[in-house]
Amino acid sequence: MTEPLLDIHLTDDDLAAALRADARTGLTADPKSLPPKWFYDARGSELFERITELPEYYPTRTERALLERVVGEIAEAARAEVLVELGSGSAAKTRLLLNALTAEGSLKTYVPQDVSASALRGAATEIAAEYPHLAVHGVVSDFTDTLHNLPRGGRRMIAFLGGTIGNLVPAERAEFLAGITEVLEPGELLLLGAGLVIDPAVLVPAYDDAAGVTAEFNRNVLHVLNHRLGADFTPEKFEHIALWDPTNEWIEMRLRATTAMTATIPALDLTVDFAPGEEMRTEISAKFHPDTLRTELTTAGFTPTHTWTDPANRFALFLAERR
Ligand code: SAH
Ligand code: TRP
Repeated sequence: MTEPLLDIHLTDDDLAAALRADARTGLTADPKSLPPKWFYDARGSELFERITELPEYYPTRTERALLERVVGEIAEAARAEVLVELGSGSAAKTRLLLNALTAEGSLKTYVPQDVSASALRGAATEIAAEYPHLAVHGVVSDFTDTLHNLPRGGRRMIAFLGGTIGNLVPAERAEFLAGITEVLEPGELLLLGAGLVIDPAVLVPAYDDAAGVTAEFNRNVLHVLNHRLGADFTPEKFEHIALWDPTNEWIEMRLRATTAMTATIPALDLTVDFAPGEEMRTEISAKFHPDTLRTELTTAGFTPTHTWTDPANRFALFLAERR
C-alpha cells in the first residue's frame, strides 16, 4: 500500500498552547465563548461524522447530490493537477472530485488539510489506498492561521466544502478568503460549498437533532478542555442551544449552564464561574445569499465563474478563479 505523506504543522504541544490561549481569552470574556476548532479531537470528528448521517442534517447529503450532478463540469473547468482540500475531515464527498478530476486526466496530487490529526490520518490513508495513482500529501494545520505552508507545484484547485466557511465570523471570513488569493497564482481556483439562507423550520433542527448527537458534539468542547487542560467541567450539566439569528443570518450554538457551577482549569491556573442559565457561544454557522458571497469572493481577489445550487436552493457550490 502507498503510504500518504503527512506534514504536521501543529504538534500536540502546539495545539495545547493554542488551546490554552483560546480558553483563557474566551472563558475570561463577558459573555464567554470558545472558538469552534476545538470541537474536533478524535471523538469530535467521529461525532461530526454521525451528524452528517442524521435525517435533520441536510447540508451533507444536499452538497453530495449537487456535487454528483455538476462534478463533471467542475473537473472540466478546473483541469486541476493538485486538489487541496481545507477542513477535509473524512473527505467522504471528495471521492466525487477525485474521480472526476482523474477521468479528466489532469489530477496528480491530493492535499487534504485539517486541524484534526486523527481525521486527517484516516482520510489520507484510505484515499492513498483507493487511488494508488495519486500522491497524497496530508497537512495538519489551522486554516485560519497559515496557508502558505501548503505544498506547491502544478495547477491547483482549493476545495472548501461542507459550509465550513459559515463557521467563520465575517471579519475572519474576509481575512481567510484574502489569504487564499495570496497563496494562489492567477488562474488557479477555489471551489466553495456554502449553506444558503432557508426556512428556519428546516435550518434549526439540522443543528438541534432529536437524537441529541449535535448536543453531544457541542459539549465535546468541554471534554476537550478536560482532557487537554485537566479542567473539571461537567459536560452533562450544560445544555445545547441552537438559535437562528435573523439579523446576522447565522445559526448560533451555545452551551447553557443548567445550574451555578465553578470549573477549575489547572493548566491556566484559572477558576471560572458560571451563573445558572449563563450561555457561552461555541459556534456560528452562517448561511448565505449567492449574490453576497460572490461579492465577497470578488472583493477578496477572485472572479466567480460558476454557481450551482440544489433544486430546493438549500446549498450552493461556487467556482472562482484567482484574478
Ligand atoms: N469537509 C468535511 C468536514 C466539514 S466539518 C465535510 O464537508 O463534511 C469541518 C472540518 O474542518 C472538520 O474536519 C474540522 O476538523 C476542520 N476544521 C475546523 N476548524 C479548522 C481550522 N481552524 N483549521 C483546520 N481545520 C479545521
Ligand atoms: N461546518 C458544519 C456546519 O456549519 C459544522 C457543524 C455542523 C456544527 N453541526 C454543528 C458545528 C453543530 C457546531 C455544532 O454545518
